Amino acid sequence: MSTHAAIVTVSPRSPLQVLQLPTPVPTANEVLIRNLWTASTPLDLHQADGGLLVTHPQVLGDGTAGTVTAVGPEVKRLKVGDRVFGFTWRNPKEKAHQEFVCAPEKLLGVVPEGVSFQEAVTLPNNFVTAFHTLVTDLHLELPWPKPEDWSPPPNLATKQILIWGGSSSVGQFALQLLNYYGYTHVTTTASPANHPLLRRCGPPGLRIHNYRPASTAISTLSQQPFDLVLDCIGSLSGSLTPISRIVSKTGAVVAVLLPVIVVPATEHEKPEYDMRPEEVVEWAKGVEVVGVRTHHYLDNEWMGEYLQGVVMPGMLDRGVVTPQKQRVVEGETMVERAEKARGILREGVSGERLVWRVGEE
Ligand SMILES: NC(=O)c1ccc[n+]([C@@H]2O[C@H](COP(=O)([O-])OP(=O)(O)OC[C@H]3O[C@@H](n4cnc5c(N)ncnc54)[C@H](OP(=O)(O)O)[C@@H]3O)[C@@H](O)[C@H]2O)c1
Repeated sequence: MSTHAAIVTVSPRSPLQVLQLPTPVPTANEVLIRNLWTASTPLDLHQADGGLLVTHPQVLGDGTAGTVTAVGPEVKRLKVGDRVFGFTWRNPKEKAHQEFVCAPEKLLGVVPEGVSFQEAVTLPNNFVTAFHTLVTDLHLELPWPKPEDWSPPPNLATKQILIWGGSSSVGQFALQLLNYYGYTHVTTTASPANHPLLRRCGPPGLRIHNYRPASTAISTLSQQPFDLVLDCIGSLSGSLTPISRIVSKTGAVVAVLLPVIVVPATEHEKPEYDMRPEEVVEWAKGVEVVGVRTHHYLDNEWMGEYLQGVVMPGMLDRGVVTPQKQRVVEGETMVERAEKARGILREGVSGERLVWRVGEE
């Protein structure tokens, strides 16, 4: 039986380790991928430092980009040699910080020509989260393929939308999607250094505000009657608290990317999380608060079938969405790169995705 190396967390905050795992033989609709690039995301930090949703030892990572090396007998779309990328997270075979990933073909799209693995791997987790949240939690329409003369229906076109944390990885894709579909009443928050980036991502007329100091952001933004809010940060003090003071309209919906970060992970401090955004702060009466769970996106049959295999590569190919800026994490070994990325995530990143090489092309 052949084996390959995987990066695992063995207990909260302890050093990451390398585990040799059996390399699966794909069955049914599964595809085996020689994984070449991956990304380190805040969820990896929540899992490695906070043990969030983890059964130890747990393979980390959910963004895969590499080459198909074998396919199961029911695979229809993909073939050996295809360059693919995807959000793969549901079990140890799918997790992405390992040399071989085995996942059903519906979780994978073909990387468009001219796009590198390093660029492609900035998309899956964020793109799927942004698309799924806008449709499932905020009830916006994002038809694909988009008919040429399509514009948002009148009841949605007038919605006042706030994307809190527009320079986050999810925020950048949410803004690009809103721009493409013609939603124009959009406001976002970010540090001044990221305002030019968000101008390029968002719709014309995008209103961009600094979120610090919070008191200024609250007094300015509470003048606007927001209908739909996407909190891309989920920080108790940094986003939920100010948003709870800004949003007051009856019927407004606030979608919060879980987990709520009560205490962030640092080198010296253990993180604390909460999964109840509707309870951790006081909200105005009539405001609906929902916790976003992208891990359930396959519950939507259409998204399960098409979002990663068709929509994500299609939008990337047509330039509807562009890869995020990458910061390549270097290191002699896989575990060094994963560990270094964990350190950077604890310090915080701005406007970019941490990516690293898993194997040689
Ligand atoms: N539940 C789900 O389905 C789901 C899915 C995906 C992600 N998430 C979670 O969503 C969170 C963000 O993930 P990500 O990958 O998008 O993060 P990320 O790219 O690492 O976010 C970095 C950005 O956050 C911004 N930021 C930090 N604090 C902020 C604040 N108080 N207000 C506004 N912006 C702030 C920074 O903006 P500036 O540099 O401009 O200051 C920076 O650009 C993580 O906790 C992640 O686990 C949840």
